[in-house]
Amino acid sequence: MTAAIIDGHHHAQTLLDAVAVELVQLPRAPGLAVVLVGDDPASHIYVRGKVAMASRLGLRGEAEILPDSVTEAELLAVIATLNARDDIDGILVQLPLPAHITTLRIMAAIDPAKDVDGLHALNAGRLLHGADSLVPCTPLGCLKLIKSVVPDLTGRHAVVIGSSNIVGKPMAALLLDERATVTQTHVHTRDIQFICRGADILVSAVGKPGLVRGDWIKPRAIVIDVGTTRVARPDGGYDTRGDVAFEEAVQVAGAITPVPRGVGPMTIACLMENTVKAAKARLRRAL
Ligand code: GUN
Repeated sequence: MTAAIIDGHHHAQTLLDAVAVELVQLPRAPGLAVVLVGDDPASHIYVRGKVAMASRLGLRGEAEILPDSVTEAELLAVIATLNARDDIDGILVQLPLPAHITTLRIMAAIDPAKDVDGLHALNAGRLLHGADSLVPCTPLGCLKLIKSVVPDLTGRHAVVIGSSNIVGKPMAALLLDERATVTQTHVHTRDIQFICRGADILVSAVGKPGLVRGDWIKPRAIVIDVGTTRVARPDGGYDTRGDVAFEEAVQVAGAITPVPRGVGPMTIACLMENTVKAAKARLRRAL
């Protein structure tokens, strides 16, 4: 039997519909600012998608595009301005940043109340404590997809491949909070295939196309593929490839996300949800 395909586009639309209902109850449209440094084509596409979705939904989305040569001080000044603006509820700095900029210093400068990417240490710490926080959009979206298949994760063995601040670490924290037994693996993990084969839930966030083969997967496991590597085609275009060898995995898994139309749409929908959440909290505080 082949795996059920988890349609991220469908789940994202359902979430966006729910966000739209919340939006109309607010006294003003929430504002989202997306900051992009440099000219990486993939980052430009992602940022355009985020701002366009904000506008389509009825938020006020704006992009701050800065040159690769921008200094850390100049970027910090842009963030300070966005922090001070009352009409901006959410700030996202698209990653990766150029090497001359220290990402953690930039994340630390974002007002935690506007940190819709959940990357400020305060929000990351609150997530680890199991307290309410703004949670990074990709792992939040992954968790929603997993729970659409298995609502109760108590005692399930979840394996996360990757330990980045943006996906791997918060993903593990979210799964732990759902009472799963979590194993975090990374580039130095030994016998990774063996560990993955024990997973009821397998999340891969590495960026290495085809890394996860069919024989890494436990029969009927839930497989969530966060990989989005752009691979050049001979005709000059690009294909987006996941970490999972899909054609093999689909023969073994119980449910699996495709790439594209899997995790990607959920990331954007969760960004919209986080922006409305941040706006509601800020509006409550202003009362
Ligand atoms: N680059 C790729 N994905 C993301 C994301 O979810 N947030 C940010 N800030 N940068 C990214």
